Amino acid sequence: MSGRILFLDQSGQPGGAELCLADIAGNYRGRSRVLLFSRGRFEEILRERDVPVSVIDAPRSLSAITKEAGMGDHLRALPELAGFLGLLRKEIRDADLVYLNTAKALLYGVAAGLGLRKPAVFHLHDLLTSEHFSRLNIRLIVQAANQCTAVIANSTATAAACVAAGGKAPVHVIPNGFDPAQFAPFPPGEVLAARQEFHSGTGPVAAVFGRIARWKGQDVLLRAAAQIPGLKVWIVGAPFFTGDDRGYAGELRALASSPALAGRVEFLGQREDIPRLMQAADIIVHTSVAPEPFGRVVVEGMLSGKPVIASRSGGPEEIIRDGETGWLFLPGDAASLALTLQNVLALPDRGRGAGMLALDMAQKNYSLSTVLQKTDIVLSGITSR
Ligand code: UDP
Ligand code: GLC
Repeated sequence: MSGRILFLDQSGQPGGAELCLADIAGNYRGRSRVLLFSRGRFEEILRERDVPVSVIDAPRSLSAITKEAGMGDHLRALPELAGFLGLLRKEIRDADLVYLNTAKALLYGVAAGLGLRKPAVFHLHDLLTSEHFSRLNIRLIVQAANQCTAVIANSTATAAACVAAGGKAPVHVIPNGFDPAQFAPFPPGEVLAARQEFHSGTGPVAAVFGRIARWKGQDVLLRAAAQIPGLKVWIVGAPFFTGDDRGYAGELRALASSPALAGRVEFLGQREDIPRLMQAADIIVHTSVAPEPFGRVVVEGMLSGKPVIASRSGGPEEIIRDGETGWLFLPGDAASLALTLQNVLALPDRGRGAGMLALDMAQKNYSLSTVLQKTDIVLSGITSR
């Protein structure tokens, strides 16, 4: 498409929605800008990729609004809202298209752009369901989404939840895309070095990747591993957002030091060498206990050619063919995860076979170039009107 795109995103931290945005904004280098509502590593990642980025720090009362926020939280933010929206409005004026990545960008972007008649696309990364959002937030998000020209949903599940909640704007399901080159096999020496950095023994390694948050359910892997002597666990990721995320990280550490797991769990923190670490592990596990909207880590695990075991819900259920390109287990059910892990460990050829089939399937279905083309078709359709 031609014209200037302004991308808005609430987060300064590189969550999945932000990494997805970095790819899309990078495709419009030279005529796009990203505006974030907070500072952090994500800002630097965009600069490293030559994507122009600026930050308008959201006032504290707005940053404090969580997915579960009620009326009181929204009302408390009102006094600071007007000034913030005024600053956003100035930025929106210069754009030909506004790309609202995530829910807060949607809410504030739509409010700030009222009356400017700028076409707006909402990239929906979340499931608008009671497991993730308060009823008030769902109502507000859907009302704002209905002001947009189009919605891009990252899975059929997120699209369906949006429509079920009253979404009326045209919805295009476009998954996240991945550059297969980033997942090409690393030299064996490098993979071995990564493995030995975090595992001195000979037993297998099951790894879970993703930010640490209660709904991501990393404890389920720990409780499953407690039933499998000799299994090493890597927990890769950091708590990004809330006090509860940090509290949950503490609970995971306590669980990891229990006698059944002592010495078998490694916390690697937030990393930027995910493909290498995935190749260094034996099995990739996804553990979300609330439905996962899409689940980048599931596709990344498949692209690494490793057996992937994931919670049966949302995106992973659309991505994995159970028993063929990976395995699905009941969300939160540590016993069922333990059984699946044991089965995959007992039949390494089967695990390898599924990994290879998954690699092929993921390369076909989640290629970055195809996803960028599909996105461009949606954006071009809007700006050529
Ligand atoms: N990730 C990362 N470093 C880490 C842990 C995770 O770069 O230490 C990346 C991971 O590779 C994936 C993204 O963060 O691309 C997480 O996206 P996903 O969709 O799985 O979950 P989200 O956190 O967005 O809900
Ligand atoms: C969100 C979702 C995650 C999805 C990512 C990219 O962060 O929680 O499931 O994969 O966005 O769309």
